[in-house]
Amino acid sequence: MGVQVRGVVPEDEAAWRDLWAGYCAFYETQVSPTVTARTFARMLDPAAPMIGRVAERGGRAVGFSISILHDGTWVEAPICYLEDLFVAPDCRGLGIGRALVEDLLALGRAAGWSRLYWHTRTDNPARVLYDLFTPADDFVRYLIRL
Ligand SMILES: CC(C)(COP(=O)(O)OP(=O)(O)OC[C@H]1O[C@@H](n2cnc3c(N)ncnc32)[C@H](O)[C@@H]1OP(=O)(O)O)[C@@H](O)C(=O)NCCC(=O)NCCS
Repeated sequence: MGVQVRGVVPEDEAAWRDLWAGYCAFYETQVSPTVTARTFARMLDPAAPMIGRVAERGGRAVGFSISILHDGTWVEAPICYLEDLFVAPDCRGLGIGRALVEDLLALGRAAGWSRLYWHTRTDNPARVLYDLFTPADDFVRYLIRL
């Protein structure tokens, strides 16, 4: 069964919300209903710098990526920050996560972005997948909640 990666459409809302709930559970976090609704709406808004992509397999949405395009001070072309990546647990190990990252690379090359980057926890087993694309660099993150 093949996998197709495409932009989020309004009809994805129910399936995306299920996947999003799984993603939030993975991170042991709770995102408020207001923020969840806003995130879905912003993925659909062509004026928002948020890019939502869905992986579909056999007519079912089985994974997603959400990215933010932003300016940079060292480059002219937009930079893409991959913020969220998730594949339904029963569909893992089938190359869907890899297809979601490859989809962003293809989009970025076509649109002329300068970079794609993402963060993850040092002990996230998903780094097996990430290391297929590029080695991690030696930057660390400082985060202050305001
Ligand atoms: C990370 C995630 C998106 C990977 O999705 P996936 O569809 O299973 O990934 P793929 O099948 O494309 O994996 C490609 C390769 O990486 C390996 N890999 C991917 N995720 C892995 C994991 N969690 N542990 C071990 N290996 C993993 C696969 O075995 C595969 O190797 P292979 O090509 O030798 O068979 C998925 O595991 C997930 O949703 N995890 C929970 C949420 C998460 O961690 N998101 C990322 C936050 S930064």
